[in-house]
Amino acid sequence: MKNIVILISGSGSNMAAIAQAAQRDRWHEVFGARVVAVISNRPAATGLALAQGLGLATQVVDHTHFESREAFDAALAAAIDAHAPALVVLAGFMRILTPGFVRRFEDRLVNIHPSLLPAFPGLNTHQRAIDSGSRFAGATVHRVTAALDHGPILDQAVVPILPGDSAATLAARVLSQEHLIYPRAIASLLKK
Ligand code: GAR
Repeated sequence: MKNIVILISGSGSNMAAIAQAAQRDRWHEVFGARVVAVISNRPAATGLALAQGLGLATQVVDHTHFESREAFDAALAAAIDAHAPALVVLAGFMRILTPGFVRRFEDRLVNIHPSLLPAFPGLNTHQRAIDSGSRFAGATVHRVTAALDHGPILDQAVVPILPGDSAATLAARVLSQEHLIYPRAIASLLKK
């Protein structure tokens, strides 16, 4: 069985899109894969209740309880390892991971970022895309390497930036595409 662990920090809509695709497309039968756990670094993440509503096991590893990034990452790694995952999926997980953590999971760690990487890595992506005068924005699914938001690209979706867009309207347009490309990119990894 290929176990999938999903890491979240917030609303968890990408996590839900992946879990729903797994059910709808019978990843269990087709790929021998299943989402086994959703782990949040924030106890207040609304995605935790969403995951529970989808019948998924949830866990919190609260980063504020650790004195260093290394100590938090070690606890997070232990929580993940308990599930022996084939894939570790970052879905709106808003912590920078240490090089040691990335090395440990490198060949099975994926992320989604709400821009057309390599453009606009990091925070405030949507406002920076609008301010740049770009006509297009989008989302990128990529493998995670030690360089933030710079791993090999697995899939991308493009959306227009429309006159009058705010960061919020653009984010919503991008997010609806994220929900399509993230499950698709994971399915194609599971196929291999
Ligand atoms: C998504 O737009 C995701 O791409 C972004 O956070 C949002 C999470 O939404 N991730 C990053 O910015 C990572 N650098 P969700 O919790 O509803 O999936």
